[in-house]
Amino acid sequence: MAKKVKTTAAAAEVKTGTSMIEIGISEKNRQAIANELQVLLADEVVLYNKTRNFHWNVEGMHFGQLHKLFEEQYEAIAELTDSVAERIRKIGHYAVGNLADFLKLTHLVEHLGEGGADSDMIRALTEDHETIIRFVRNMIDTVDNKYQDAGTADFLTGLMEEHEKMAWMLRAHLA
Ligand SMILES: [Fe+2]
Repeated sequence: MAKKVKTTAAAAEVKTGTSMIEIGISEKNRQAIANELQVLLADEVVLYNKTRNFHWNVEGMHFGQLHKLFEEQYEAIAELTDSVAERIRKIGHYAVGNLADFLKLTHLVEHLGEGGADSDMIRALTEDHETIIRFVRNMIDTVDNKYQDAGTADFLTGLMEEHEKMAWMLRAHLA
């Protein structure tokens, strides 16, 4: 079960800013945006790992199809992960890059263990995508209207659509 989505980052104390940047967004706002993005980055890393775990360990009549689907999805999530980290750099902060911090920051819960029913795997991944979608949807509004960062809002809109597509593909297997 996914943890409740937080709209403000748990990482408020993470000071990751760099100097020498003037892109028309205040330092305070860039810090607040970076904090939110660090949580998203952690979510992407955890979901990547969970999807890859299921790619390795799925079994049953639908093995071939699900093994391939999970691979396509963890590759897409890897691309998104990279984009989030680079977005953090673009607004003048350093990206969190270690597993200990990711596990502290994420909204998601790791899958402990390897096996399980394929339908449980699909359901767990769908819920994680939906958790991210709800978090990002809130963040888009905050980033655009409160922090005046149209670039990050636009970036997040595209990212959210990618998660919506992956969630749809997973959900369609449960019908
Ligand atoms: Fe593989």
